[in-house]
Amino acid sequence: MTAESQLSRFGLFDARVPRYTSYPTAPHFNSCVGPEDFRDWIGAIPEGARISLYLHVPFCRRLCWFCACRTQGTTSDDPVRAYIEVLKAELQLLKTRLPAGVTLSRLHWGGGTPTLMPARVMEDLARAVFDVVPMGDGAEFSVEIDPNEIDDDRLDALASAGMNRASIGVQDFDPAIQKMIGRDQSFQITKKAADMIRDRGVASLNADILFGLPRQNRDRIAASVQKLLSLNPDRVALYGYAHVPWMARRQVMIPSDTLPRPEERLELFETARKLFVADGYDEIGIDHFALPTDGLACAAREGRLRRNFQGYTDDTAEVLIGVGASSISRFPQGYAQNAPATSAYTKAVRAGEFATAKGHGFAGQDRMRARMIEALMCDFRIDANEICRDFNISAEQLRTLFDTAARDFGDMVEIGPGAFSIPERARPLTRMIARAFDAYDLSKAGHSPAV
Ligand SMILES: C[S@@+](CC[C@H](N)C(=O)[O-])C[C@H]1O[C@@H](n2cnc3c(N)ncnc32)[C@H](O)[C@@H]1O
Ligand code: SF4
Repeated sequence: MTAESQLSRFGLFDARVPRYTSYPTAPHFNSCVGPEDFRDWIGAIPEGARISLYLHVPFCRRLCWFCACRTQGTTSDDPVRAYIEVLKAELQLLKTRLPAGVTLSRLHWGGGTPTLMPARVMEDLARAVFDVVPMGDGAEFSVEIDPNEIDDDRLDALASAGMNRASIGVQDFDPAIQKMIGRDQSFQITKKAADMIRDRGVASLNADILFGLPRQNRDRIAASVQKLLSLNPDRVALYGYAHVPWMARRQVMIPSDTLPRPEERLELFETARKLFVADGYDEIGIDHFALPTDGLACAAREGRLRRNFQGYTDDTAEVLIGVGASSISRFPQGYAQNAPATSAYTKAVRAGEFATAKGHGFAGQDRMRARMIEALMCDFRIDANEICRDFNISAEQLRTLFDTAARDFGDMVEIGPGAFSIPERARPLTRMIARAFDAYDLSKAGHSPAV
């Protein structure tokens, strides 16, 4: 039996499964968590702790048809400036609640397109952040950069604010594919952005690239990957294009019959994966690649890799606070998400209140299941001793859980005396196997194709 038909037997080409950037996943959040919980959870952060901050800027100059991110188009700076004032007000609210001596482990600006902010606005926002939480030793400050929406002035502002990791959106270099996904971006523009970033001594360059795009084939993705490799990124995220026009209306511009079939998606992923590996990149989790010297690769080798809303991270902070409309915070007690609509978010913050609209407080086996799913997504392996040590479960009970999860996967999972693991040949099934540890109703919408 070919590897492909083996994987097909387990339903890989039909399933839709979560990406497990959190457990439980965001569709399970509800209004049981509100501003009071958020306030309490902030207050429970230990004095002097290291925390991470995510700042969301939901605006773009262009609205690419493929994009499923929650963002709005604007040609004017006015709504952006008004929104940044609200972000700053939310940061001030945080300042009144955060315990003393807290410092930053990671600061990430995402969107949308944070680089559409004018340079002076960026400087002002960075000052506002550091006034609330200063950077700690070895902290990382990363920003998502659209190569079409950056110039010297704005990069100077980011570099002097301390940005030390830049993440550029590539998606695909093929002009015909770019036309079909409504994103025009020449190789020269992307290379210029990469060069400008490196010229400023920014330590690390990340890039996002997609497989499963309309009319993408092996030759086309190989050509795109080769072009990307010529830019020497330190890290690459190779995401599967999620076609969800019922959620992201602009995707109706991409006819479904131009999209590769699931079997072809797997082939596209494998083509790109082999090129990254042949070029010396380490495979990180299910969809990232990093140079062996990169922090993510070191964390993966040393078993320190973590999963968060941005994908994979080597961040060790227990608390991640999401600032801005729709941003999600993670605490040891649970998740809290701000109101998704900019209007509701703005109204709450202007009234002097946190904008938490929903979330999830951990209960029962949540933490244990979250740890097991994260371990599979990061290391393809759950260490049984570690789970028994950290959670209230006996070796026998855990073995029963492992056996139940393994039931539908035959020899695609291995259960040894000390671990549940996914062998290399079964890695494309990782999210499906992780789902076997998910205790929530999986019929909720919003999942991406399993491959
Ligand atoms: C929030 S976007 C920000 C990127 C930045 N604004 C830019 O255009 O370069 C971050 C990444 O999400 C990924 N993304 C967006 N829509 C997607 C989709 N439908 N399926 C998979 N990945 C998607 C893209 O790879 C994109 O680079
Ligand atoms: S890919 Fe970037 S620029 Fe394009 S719509 Fe999405 S967030 Fe905006």
